Amino acid sequence: TRLDPAVSHSFVYRGTFVHSTQQKALQILKDALLGVDTQGKIAFIEEGKELEKLSQTFGFKTSDITQLAQHEFFMPGLVDTHIHASQYSYAGTALDMPLLQWLNAYTFPVESRFKDLEFARKVYTQIVRRTLRNGTTTACYFATIHTEASLLLGQIANNFGQRALVGKVCMDRNDCVKHYKETLQDSQDETCRWVLYPLVKPVVTPRFAPSCTGALLEQLGEIAKNNNLHIQSHISETLEEVKLVKELFPESESYADVYYKHNLLTDKTVMAHGCHLSDEELALFRETGASLSHCPNSNFSLCSGVLNVRNVLKHKVKLGLGTDVAGGYSASMLDAVRRALDASKVLTIQDPKYKTLSFEEVFRIATLGGSQALSLDDQTGNFEVGKDFDALRINVAAEGGPIDLIQDEEPKVGDDRNIAEVFVAGRKVVPITE
Ligand code: GUN
Ligand code: FE
Repeated sequence: TRLDPAVSHSFVYRGTFVHSTQQKALQILKDALLGVDTQGKIAFIEEGKELEKLSQTFGFKTSDITQLAQHEFFMPGLVDTHIHASQYSYAGTALDMPLLQWLNAYTFPVESRFKDLEFARKVYTQIVRRTLRNGTTTACYFATIHTEASLLLGQIANNFGQRALVGKVCMDRNDCVKHYKETLQDSQDETCRWVLYPLVKPVVTPRFAPSCTGALLEQLGEIAKNNNLHIQSHISETLEEVKLVKELFPESESYADVYYKHNLLTDKTVMAHGCHLSDEELALFRETGASLSHCPNSNFSLCSGVLNVRNVLKHKVKLGLGTDVAGGYSASMLDAVRRALDASKVLTIQDPKYKTLSFEEVFRIATLGGSQALSLDDQTGNFEVGKDFDALRINVAAEGGPIDLIQDEEPKVGDDRNIAEVFVAGRKVVPITE
Protein backbone atom coordinates (compact mmCIF):
# COMPACT_ATOMS: atom_id res chain seq x y z
CA THR A 1 0.00 0.00 0.00
CA ARG A 2 1.13 3.54 -0.77
CA LEU A 3 -0.38 5.82 1.81
CA ASP A 4 1.95 8.76 1.49
CA PRO A 5 0.67 11.07 -1.25
CA ALA A 6 3.67 13.40 -1.21
CA VAL A 7 5.97 13.37 -4.19
CA SER A 8 9.58 13.40 -3.17
CA HIS A 9 10.94 15.64 -5.91
CA SER A 10 9.78 18.57 -7.98
CA PHE A 11 9.66 18.28 -11.77
CA VAL A 12 9.12 20.30 -14.92
CA TYR A 13 7.42 19.40 -18.20
CA ARG A 14 7.78 21.26 -21.45
CA GLY A 15 5.27 20.95 -24.28
CA THR A 16 1.58 21.43 -24.97
CA PHE A 17 -0.96 21.91 -22.17
CA VAL A 18 -4.70 22.01 -22.79
CA HIS A 19 -7.19 23.11 -20.14
CA SER A 20 -10.28 25.19 -19.41
CA THR A 21 -10.60 28.47 -17.60
CA GLN A 22 -13.58 30.52 -16.55
CA GLN A 23 -13.02 32.71 -19.62
CA LYS A 24 -12.06 30.06 -22.16
CA ALA A 25 -13.62 26.63 -22.56
CA LEU A 26 -10.46 25.35 -24.22
CA GLN A 27 -7.11 27.03 -23.86
CA ILE A 28 -4.14 25.52 -25.67
CA LEU A 29 -0.70 26.48 -24.38
CA LYS A 30 2.04 25.53 -26.81
CA ASP A 31 5.68 25.02 -25.90
CA ALA A 32 4.84 25.89 -22.31
CA LEU A 33 6.73 24.99 -19.16
CA LEU A 34 4.87 23.62 -16.15
CA GLY A 35 6.60 23.01 -12.84
CA VAL A 36 5.32 20.86 -9.97
CA ASP A 37 6.65 21.33 -6.45
CA THR A 38 7.35 18.67 -3.83
CA GLN A 39 3.80 19.05 -2.49
CA GLY A 40 2.43 18.05 -5.91
CA LYS A 41 1.22 21.58 -6.62
CA ILE A 42 1.66 23.57 -9.80
CA ALA A 43 4.49 26.02 -9.09
CA PHE A 44 4.41 27.77 -12.46
CA ILE A 45 3.02 27.49 -15.97
CA GLU A 46 4.56 29.79 -18.54
CA GLU A 47 4.28 30.03 -22.28
CA GLY A 48 6.99 31.48 -24.46
CA LYS A 49 9.10 32.83 -21.59
CA GLU A 50 12.81 32.64 -21.67
CA LEU A 51 13.97 29.42 -20.17
CA GLU A 52 16.92 30.94 -18.40
CA LYS A 53 14.85 33.49 -16.52
CA LEU A 54 12.33 30.87 -15.49
CA SER A 55 14.96 28.47 -14.27
CA GLN A 56 16.50 31.21 -12.19
CA THR A 57 13.19 32.31 -10.67
CA PHE A 58 12.09 28.80 -9.83
CA GLY A 59 15.46 27.17 -9.31
CA PHE A 60 15.49 24.25 -11.68
CA LYS A 61 18.12 22.99 -14.07
CA THR A 62 17.62 22.29 -17.77
CA SER A 63 18.26 18.64 -16.96
CA ASP A 64 15.15 18.67 -14.70
CA ILE A 65 12.91 19.26 -17.73
CA THR A 66 11.02 16.45 -19.43
CA GLN A 67 10.21 17.35 -23.00
CA LEU A 68 6.87 16.11 -24.32
CA ALA A 69 6.85 14.66 -27.84
CA GLN A 70 5.04 16.39 -30.70
CA HIS A 71 2.18 13.89 -30.43
CA GLU A 72 1.73 14.38 -26.68
CA PHE A 73 0.00 16.90 -24.46
CA PHE A 74 -1.24 17.28 -20.90
CA MET A 75 -4.87 17.90 -19.95
CA PRO A 76 -6.46 18.13 -16.49
CA GLY A 77 -7.71 14.91 -14.93
CA LEU A 78 -11.35 14.00 -15.53
CA VAL A 79 -13.80 14.47 -12.67
CA ASP A 80 -16.57 11.89 -12.35
CA THR A 81 -19.17 13.66 -10.24
CA HIS A 82 -21.49 10.64 -9.90
CA ILE A 83 -20.62 6.95 -9.94
CA HIS A 84 -21.89 3.93 -7.97
CA ALA A 85 -18.75 1.92 -7.19
CA SER A 86 -20.84 -0.98 -5.94
CA GLN A 87 -22.77 -1.26 -9.19
CA TYR A 88 -19.63 -1.90 -11.23
CA SER A 89 -20.24 -5.61 -10.57
CA TYR A 90 -23.10 -5.59 -13.10
CA ALA A 91 -22.18 -2.65 -15.33
CA GLY A 92 -23.07 -3.27 -18.95
CA THR A 93 -25.97 -5.58 -18.13
CA ALA A 94 -29.53 -5.21 -16.90
CA LEU A 95 -30.52 -2.12 -18.81
CA ASP A 96 -33.97 -3.31 -19.85
CA MET A 97 -36.12 -1.57 -17.24
CA PRO A 98 -36.98 1.95 -16.17
CA LEU A 99 -35.36 3.31 -13.01
CA LEU A 100 -37.73 2.30 -10.22
CA GLN A 101 -38.13 -1.27 -11.48
CA TRP A 102 -34.42 -1.48 -12.25
CA LEU A 103 -33.54 -0.55 -8.66
CA ASN A 104 -35.73 -3.30 -7.24
CA ALA A 105 -34.86 -5.99 -9.75
CA TYR A 106 -31.10 -5.54 -10.03
CA THR A 107 -29.58 -2.80 -7.90
CA PHE A 108 -30.81 -3.51 -4.37
CA PRO A 109 -30.11 -7.28 -4.54
CA VAL A 110 -26.55 -6.64 -5.78
CA GLU A 111 -25.83 -3.84 -3.31
CA SER A 112 -26.94 -6.02 -0.41
CA ARG A 113 -23.99 -8.32 -1.21
CA PHE A 114 -21.52 -5.69 -0.01
CA LYS A 115 -21.98 -6.89 3.56
CA ASP A 116 -19.35 -9.38 2.40
CA LEU A 117 -16.07 -7.46 2.66
CA GLU A 118 -14.16 -9.77 0.35
CA PHE A 119 -16.73 -9.25 -2.39
CA ALA A 120 -16.54 -5.51 -1.72
CA ARG A 121 -12.76 -5.52 -1.91
CA LYS A 122 -12.81 -7.29 -5.25
CA VAL A 123 -15.35 -4.96 -6.88
CA TYR A 124 -13.95 -1.76 -5.36
CA THR A 125 -10.42 -2.60 -6.44
CA GLN A 126 -11.67 -3.22 -9.98
CA ILE A 127 -13.59 0.04 -10.23
CA VAL A 128 -10.81 2.21 -8.82
CA ARG A 129 -8.28 0.67 -11.20
CA ARG A 130 -10.66 0.94 -14.14
CA THR A 131 -11.60 4.57 -13.58
CA LEU A 132 -8.01 5.64 -12.92
CA ARG A 133 -6.90 3.90 -16.10
CA ASN A 134 -9.61 5.89 -17.89
CA GLY A 135 -8.31 9.17 -16.54
CA THR A 136 -10.69 9.79 -13.63
CA THR A 137 -8.47 11.63 -11.15
CA THR A 138 -11.43 12.54 -8.91
CA ALA A 139 -14.47 10.32 -8.37
CA CYS A 140 -17.56 11.06 -6.31
CA TYR A 141 -18.69 7.58 -5.28
CA PHE A 142 -21.84 6.02 -3.92
CA ALA A 143 -20.96 2.83 -2.03
CA THR A 144 -23.76 0.86 -0.28
CA ILE A 145 -25.46 1.01 3.12
CA HIS A 146 -22.55 -0.97 4.65
CA THR A 147 -20.14 1.23 6.58
CA GLU A 148 -17.20 -1.19 6.68
CA ALA A 149 -17.28 -1.72 2.93
CA SER A 150 -17.67 2.02 2.32
CA LEU A 151 -14.61 2.75 4.44
CA LEU A 152 -12.75 0.07 2.50
CA LEU A 153 -13.62 1.87 -0.75
CA GLY A 154 -12.06 5.04 0.65
CA GLN A 155 -8.93 3.16 1.64
CA ILE A 156 -8.62 1.51 -1.77
CA ALA A 157 -9.06 4.80 -3.67
CA ASN A 158 -6.49 6.49 -1.44
CA ASN A 159 -3.99 3.68 -1.81
CA PHE A 160 -4.22 3.68 -5.60
CA GLY A 161 -3.83 7.45 -5.43
CA GLN A 162 -7.27 8.48 -6.66
CA ARG A 163 -8.91 11.58 -5.22
CA ALA A 164 -12.37 10.59 -4.04
CA LEU A 165 -15.51 11.51 -2.21
CA VAL A 166 -17.04 8.38 -0.71
CA GLY A 167 -20.63 8.11 0.45
CA LYS A 168 -22.09 5.41 2.61
CA VAL A 169 -25.61 5.16 1.19
CA CYS A 170 -28.43 6.07 3.57
CA MET A 171 -31.93 4.62 3.18
CA ASP A 172 -34.54 3.77 5.78
CA ARG A 173 -37.37 3.17 3.32
CA ASN A 174 -37.49 0.22 0.93
CA ASP A 175 -40.77 -1.59 0.36
CA CYS A 176 -39.56 -3.98 -2.31
CA VAL A 177 -36.25 -5.43 -1.15
CA LYS A 178 -37.04 -5.30 2.54
CA HIS A 179 -33.69 -6.51 3.87
CA TYR A 180 -31.81 -3.75 2.03
CA LYS A 181 -32.43 -0.80 4.31
CA GLU A 182 -31.43 0.56 7.72
CA THR A 183 -33.22 1.94 10.72
CA LEU A 184 -33.22 5.70 11.09
CA GLN A 185 -30.89 5.41 14.09
CA ASP A 186 -28.39 3.13 12.33
CA SER A 187 -28.31 5.30 9.24
CA GLN A 188 -27.60 8.35 11.34
CA ASP A 189 -24.95 6.68 13.55
CA GLU A 190 -23.16 4.98 10.69
CA THR A 191 -22.99 8.18 8.62
CA CYS A 192 -20.89 9.67 11.40
CA ARG A 193 -18.30 6.88 11.18
CA TRP A 194 -15.98 8.35 8.58
CA VAL A 195 -12.22 8.02 8.28
CA LEU A 196 -10.06 10.70 6.71
CA TYR A 197 -7.41 9.71 4.19
CA PRO A 198 -5.19 12.28 2.48
CA LEU A 199 -7.09 12.00 -0.80
CA VAL A 200 -10.55 10.98 0.38
CA LYS A 201 -13.45 12.89 1.90
CA PRO A 202 -16.74 11.57 3.28
CA VAL A 203 -20.00 12.65 1.67
CA VAL A 204 -23.43 12.50 3.27
CA THR A 205 -25.50 10.33 0.93
CA PRO A 206 -29.26 10.02 1.21
CA ARG A 207 -29.92 7.64 -1.73
CA PHE A 208 -32.83 9.76 -2.99
CA ALA A 209 -35.99 11.11 -1.42
CA PRO A 210 -38.13 8.00 -2.08
CA SER A 211 -35.65 5.83 -0.10
CA CYS A 212 -35.69 8.10 2.94
CA THR A 213 -38.19 9.20 5.53
CA GLY A 214 -38.45 12.90 6.23
CA ALA A 215 -36.92 12.21 9.64
CA LEU A 216 -33.81 10.68 8.08
CA LEU A 217 -33.43 13.52 5.57
CA GLU A 218 -33.61 15.96 8.44
CA GLN A 219 -30.95 14.12 10.45
CA LEU A 220 -28.63 13.93 7.45
CA GLY A 221 -29.03 17.64 6.75
CA GLU A 222 -28.12 18.26 10.36
CA ILE A 223 -25.02 16.02 10.25
CA ALA A 224 -23.79 17.68 7.06
CA LYS A 225 -24.29 21.14 8.50
CA ASN A 226 -22.63 20.42 11.84
CA ASN A 227 -19.58 18.88 10.19
CA ASN A 228 -19.42 20.99 7.01
CA LEU A 229 -19.65 17.87 4.86
CA HIS A 230 -20.34 17.31 1.19
CA ILE A 231 -23.79 15.99 0.25
CA GLN A 232 -24.86 13.90 -2.74
CA SER A 233 -28.10 12.36 -3.92
CA HIS A 234 -30.35 11.94 -6.96
CA ILE A 235 -33.04 14.31 -8.18
CA SER A 236 -35.68 14.35 -10.93
CA GLU A 237 -34.13 11.55 -12.94
CA THR A 238 -37.46 10.18 -14.25
CA LEU A 239 -41.03 11.46 -14.40
CA GLU A 240 -42.31 8.42 -12.50
CA GLU A 241 -39.91 9.23 -9.67
CA VAL A 242 -41.01 12.88 -9.61
CA LYS A 243 -44.62 11.70 -9.29
CA LEU A 244 -43.69 9.33 -6.46
CA VAL A 245 -41.91 12.11 -4.57
CA LYS A 246 -45.01 14.28 -4.86
CA GLU A 247 -47.04 11.48 -3.24
CA LEU A 248 -44.51 10.78 -0.49
CA PHE A 249 -43.85 14.44 0.39
CA PRO A 250 -47.18 16.20 -0.27
CA GLU A 251 -46.20 19.17 1.88
CA SER A 252 -43.29 20.09 -0.40
CA GLU A 253 -43.69 22.39 -3.37
CA SER A 254 -41.30 20.46 -5.59
CA TYR A 255 -38.69 17.70 -5.59
CA ALA A 256 -35.93 20.27 -5.02
CA ASP A 257 -37.97 21.74 -2.20
CA VAL A 258 -37.91 18.35 -0.39
CA TYR A 259 -34.12 18.53 -0.17
CA TYR A 260 -34.13 22.27 0.45
CA LYS A 261 -36.51 21.94 3.42
CA HIS A 262 -34.18 19.38 5.00
CA ASN A 263 -31.03 21.51 4.57
CA LEU A 264 -29.69 19.22 1.91
CA LEU A 265 -29.21 21.86 -0.80
CA THR A 266 -25.95 23.61 0.06
CA ASP A 267 -22.89 24.85 -1.82
CA LYS A 268 -21.33 21.44 -1.11
CA THR A 269 -24.24 19.47 -2.60
CA VAL A 270 -24.13 17.58 -5.88
CA MET A 271 -27.37 16.09 -7.20
CA ALA A 272 -27.37 13.58 -10.04
CA HIS A 273 -29.52 13.86 -13.19
CA GLY A 274 -32.05 16.68 -12.74
CA CYS A 275 -33.55 15.94 -16.17
CA HIS A 276 -37.03 17.09 -15.17
CA LEU A 277 -36.30 20.06 -12.92
CA SER A 278 -38.41 23.18 -13.42
CA ASP A 279 -36.91 26.64 -13.84
CA GLU A 280 -38.00 27.43 -10.27
CA GLU A 281 -36.09 24.42 -9.01
CA LEU A 282 -33.00 25.42 -10.99
CA ALA A 283 -33.28 28.86 -9.41
CA LEU A 284 -33.23 27.15 -6.01
CA PHE A 285 -30.01 25.36 -7.00
CA ARG A 286 -28.48 28.63 -8.06
CA GLU A 287 -29.55 30.36 -4.86
CA THR A 288 -28.16 27.65 -2.56
CA GLY A 289 -25.01 26.99 -4.63
CA ALA A 290 -25.95 23.35 -5.11
CA SER A 291 -24.72 21.67 -8.29
CA LEU A 292 -25.90 19.09 -10.81
CA SER A 293 -24.21 16.02 -12.20
CA HIS A 294 -25.14 15.35 -15.82
CA CYS A 295 -25.25 11.57 -16.44
CA PRO A 296 -26.14 11.18 -20.11
CA ASN A 297 -25.22 7.52 -20.59
CA SER A 298 -27.51 6.54 -17.73
CA ASN A 299 -30.26 8.91 -18.86
CA PHE A 300 -30.31 7.17 -22.25
CA SER A 301 -29.76 3.63 -20.95
CA LEU A 302 -32.66 3.76 -18.49
CA CYS A 303 -34.76 5.98 -20.81
CA SER A 304 -34.93 8.57 -18.04
CA GLY A 305 -34.80 11.86 -19.89
CA VAL A 306 -32.49 14.33 -21.60
CA LEU A 307 -30.94 17.09 -19.51
CA ASN A 308 -31.17 20.52 -21.11
CA VAL A 309 -27.63 21.64 -20.33
CA ARG A 310 -28.06 25.05 -21.98
CA ASN A 311 -30.91 25.80 -19.60
CA VAL A 312 -28.85 24.66 -16.59
CA LEU A 313 -25.98 26.92 -17.66
CA LYS A 314 -28.40 29.78 -18.32
CA HIS A 315 -29.52 29.48 -14.69
CA LYS A 316 -25.85 29.58 -13.65
CA VAL A 317 -26.07 26.28 -11.82
CA LYS A 318 -22.71 24.53 -11.35
CA LEU A 319 -22.55 21.47 -13.58
CA GLY A 320 -20.28 18.41 -13.75
CA LEU A 321 -20.40 15.19 -15.71
CA GLY A 322 -20.98 11.69 -14.30
CA THR A 323 -20.86 8.12 -15.58
CA ASP A 324 -23.52 6.91 -13.11
CA VAL A 325 -22.31 3.31 -13.33
CA ALA A 326 -24.32 1.05 -13.61
CA GLY A 327 -27.32 3.05 -14.85
CA GLY A 328 -24.63 4.17 -17.29
CA TYR A 329 -22.87 1.16 -18.78
CA SER A 330 -19.46 2.79 -19.12
CA ALA A 331 -17.06 3.77 -16.34
CA SER A 332 -15.16 6.02 -18.75
CA MET A 333 -15.51 9.77 -18.50
CA LEU A 334 -14.49 10.10 -22.14
CA ASP A 335 -17.60 8.05 -22.90
CA ALA A 336 -19.58 10.51 -20.77
CA VAL A 337 -18.17 13.33 -22.89
CA ARG A 338 -19.43 11.62 -26.05
CA ARG A 339 -22.86 10.91 -24.54
CA ALA A 340 -23.15 14.53 -23.39
CA LEU A 341 -22.56 15.64 -26.97
CA ASP A 342 -25.15 13.11 -28.18
CA ALA A 343 -27.70 14.29 -25.60
CA SER A 344 -27.24 17.85 -26.77
CA LYS A 345 -27.73 16.76 -30.38
CA VAL A 346 -30.97 15.00 -29.48
CA LEU A 347 -32.28 18.37 -28.28
CA THR A 348 -31.13 19.99 -31.50
CA ILE A 349 -32.90 17.27 -33.51
CA GLN A 350 -36.07 18.00 -31.58
CA ASP A 351 -35.65 21.73 -32.00
CA PRO A 352 -33.19 22.88 -34.69
CA LYS A 353 -32.90 26.26 -32.95
CA TYR A 354 -31.34 24.58 -29.89
CA LYS A 355 -27.64 25.38 -29.92
CA THR A 356 -25.72 22.10 -29.65
CA LEU A 357 -22.99 22.03 -27.01
CA SER A 358 -19.51 22.26 -28.46
CA PHE A 359 -16.74 19.79 -27.64
CA GLU A 360 -14.93 22.60 -25.86
CA GLU A 361 -17.88 23.25 -23.57
CA VAL A 362 -18.23 19.57 -22.68
CA PHE A 363 -14.47 19.32 -22.09
CA ARG A 364 -14.82 22.11 -19.55
CA ILE A 365 -17.80 20.46 -17.86
CA ALA A 366 -15.83 17.18 -17.61
CA THR A 367 -12.84 18.85 -15.93
CA LEU A 368 -13.20 22.31 -14.37
CA GLY A 369 -17.01 22.02 -14.18
CA GLY A 370 -16.72 18.80 -12.20
CA SER A 371 -14.26 20.34 -9.77
CA GLN A 372 -16.61 23.28 -9.26
CA ALA A 373 -19.58 20.96 -8.83
CA LEU A 374 -17.71 19.13 -6.06
CA SER A 375 -16.41 22.37 -4.50
CA LEU A 376 -12.85 21.25 -5.17
CA ASP A 377 -11.98 23.97 -7.67
CA ASP A 378 -9.67 25.76 -5.30
CA GLN A 379 -7.54 22.61 -5.53
CA THR A 380 -8.17 20.92 -8.90
CA GLY A 381 -9.83 21.33 -12.31
CA ASN A 382 -7.21 23.08 -14.43
CA PHE A 383 -3.56 24.09 -14.54
CA GLU A 384 -3.71 27.26 -12.46
CA VAL A 385 -0.69 27.95 -10.28
CA GLY A 386 -1.23 26.69 -6.72
CA LYS A 387 -3.59 23.88 -7.65
CA ASP A 388 -2.68 20.22 -7.35
CA PHE A 389 -1.23 18.68 -10.50
CA ASP A 390 -4.07 16.29 -11.45
CA ALA A 391 -3.32 15.55 -15.06
CA LEU A 392 -3.45 13.16 -17.98
CA ARG A 393 -0.51 12.72 -20.32
CA ILE A 394 -2.21 12.13 -23.65
CA ASN A 395 -0.58 10.31 -26.52
CA VAL A 396 -2.37 11.37 -29.68
CA ALA A 397 -0.54 8.75 -31.72
CA ALA A 398 -1.49 5.75 -29.59
CA GLU A 399 -2.68 2.81 -31.64
CA GLY A 400 -6.41 2.58 -32.12
CA GLY A 401 -7.23 5.88 -30.50
CA PRO A 402 -9.15 8.40 -32.57
CA ILE A 403 -8.01 11.31 -30.47
CA ASP A 404 -6.36 14.22 -32.25
CA LEU A 405 -7.00 17.08 -29.94
CA ILE A 406 -4.33 19.52 -30.93
CA GLN A 407 -3.38 18.86 -34.52
CA ASP A 408 -4.93 21.72 -36.49
CA GLU A 409 -6.52 22.68 -33.15
CA GLU A 410 -9.44 20.49 -34.15
CA PRO A 411 -10.64 18.65 -31.05
CA LYS A 412 -11.84 15.06 -31.01
CA VAL A 413 -12.54 12.52 -28.30
CA GLY A 414 -10.29 9.54 -27.70
CA ASP A 415 -10.30 6.60 -25.33
CA ASP A 416 -8.18 5.04 -22.60
CA ARG A 417 -5.55 3.95 -25.12
CA ASN A 418 -4.61 7.59 -25.53
CA ILE A 419 -4.05 8.09 -21.80
CA ALA A 420 -0.39 7.26 -21.33
CA GLU A 421 0.00 8.48 -17.76
CA VAL A 422 -2.21 9.81 -14.98
CA PHE A 423 -1.08 12.12 -12.17
CA VAL A 424 -2.94 12.97 -8.97
CA ALA A 425 -1.44 15.67 -6.76
CA GLY A 426 1.80 15.34 -8.70
CA ARG A 427 2.10 11.62 -8.16
CA LYS A 428 2.08 9.24 -11.14
CA VAL A 429 -0.74 6.77 -10.47
CA VAL A 430 -1.04 5.28 -13.99
CA PRO A 431 0.56 3.06 -15.20
CA ILE A 432 -0.55 1.15 -12.12
CA THR A 433 2.48 -0.54 -10.66
CA GLU A 434 1.02 -3.20 -8.37
N1 GUN B 1 -31.90 6.74 -7.84
C1 GUN B 1 -31.82 6.15 -6.64
N2 GUN B 1 -30.86 5.22 -6.61
C2 GUN B 1 -30.31 5.20 -7.84
C3 GUN B 1 -29.26 4.43 -8.43
O1 GUN B 1 -28.64 3.58 -7.82
N3 GUN B 1 -28.98 4.72 -9.73
C4 GUN B 1 -29.65 5.67 -10.44
N4 GUN B 1 -29.30 5.89 -11.70
N5 GUN B 1 -30.64 6.39 -9.90
C5 GUN B 1 -30.96 6.17 -8.62
FE1 FE C 1 -26.92 7.31 -9.67
